[in-house]
Amino acid sequence: MNPDYLATLDALRRAFGPASETPLLVDIMAKHFGRPGTISMLDVGIGNGVSARKVAEGLSRNGIHVELTGIDPYLPPSAYQLNWPRKPHLAASGLASFDPGSTYDVVNATQCLYYLGDESAALRKLASLVSPGGILTITVWDDGCTLKKIHDAYLAPGRPSPSGMGVSRALAGVPSLTGPSQVYRFAGTIRLAGNDGTILDAILDIAGRGAGSTGEARLRAKAYLRSLGTTAPRRNAIVTAGRAAEGAGI
Ligand SMILES: C[S@@+](CC[C@H](N)C(=O)[O-])C[C@H]1O[C@@H](n2cnc3c(N)ncnc32)[C@H](O)[C@@H]1O
Repeated sequence: MNPDYLATLDALRRAFGPASETPLLVDIMAKHFGRPGTISMLDVGIGNGVSARKVAEGLSRNGIHVELTGIDPYLPPSAYQLNWPRKPHLAASGLASFDPGSTYDVVNATQCLYYLGDESAALRKLASLVSPGGILTITVWDDGCTLKKIHDAYLAPGRPSPSGMGVSRALAGVPSLTGPSQVYRFAGTIRLAGNDGTILDAILDIAGRGAGSTGEARLRAKAYLRSLGTTAPRRNAIVTAGRAAEGAGI
C-alpha cells in the first residue's frame, strides 16, 4: 500500500466521531458462535491490521480467541509488527490469487469490496473461504454516507459503490451461503475540522481511490463538503451471511 494512502486513511479515521462500528461487528460474531472457544478468522484487505486487532480484542473479551490470518496486496511494514493476541499469519496477496487450501470460521472484509475487482466473483471467492458453520462479514459505505455520496455523485458518477442492500442482494445469488443475509447499519460522524482542507482532502482521496476522477470533479466535491459545516454523516452497513454447519470450528 502506498504509505501516503495509509497516512491519509489514518487522518480520516482520527476525524471519525467517538462511535465505532467495531463493537457491532464483535457482537454479531460473538452471537453467531454463541459460546467461548477458538475460531479462525481471515481478514481480507487487512491494511495495517489495527481494525482486525480491535475485533480480535473484542471477541477475546467474549471468551472467543482468534487465530488471525490477514491478506492484502499492499501490506505495510506496521502490519508485520502486529502481535496481538499473537502474531497473525500474513500474506501479501490480493483476494483473487489467494489460495490457502483451507477455510475460516470468519471471513471479514472491511471497507475493501471496492478494490476487489468484479464484485460477484469477489463475493463468491469470499464465500468459498468460509468454513461450514462460519460467517462472512462485509462492511461497506451505506446510503447516506458522506464517502459514498462523494464517490457516487462526484468522483465516480454512474458507477455507484454497493450499499448494504446491494451487497445483500448480490449475496443472495451465492450458492454456498445459507439463508437471507442480514444488514446491520451503523451511524457515526466525521468531524470536518473547521474546513481547513486537510480532512476534506482525505475524504476525497479515500472516496476517490481508483475512481480516476478529474480535478474539476474534486473541486465540485470539495465545495459540497465545505457546504456541510462542521460534521458530516458516516454510515456503514455490515452485511453478514452464514454457511451451513457440518461441524463448525468452535
Ligand atoms: C480502506 S482500506 C481498509 C483496511 C482495513 N480493512 C480497515 O478496515 O482498516 C482497504 C484495503 O483493501 C486493500 N486491498 C486493495 N486491493 C485488494 C485486493 N485485491 N485484495 C485484498 N485487499 C485489497 C488495500 O490495500 C487496503 O489495505
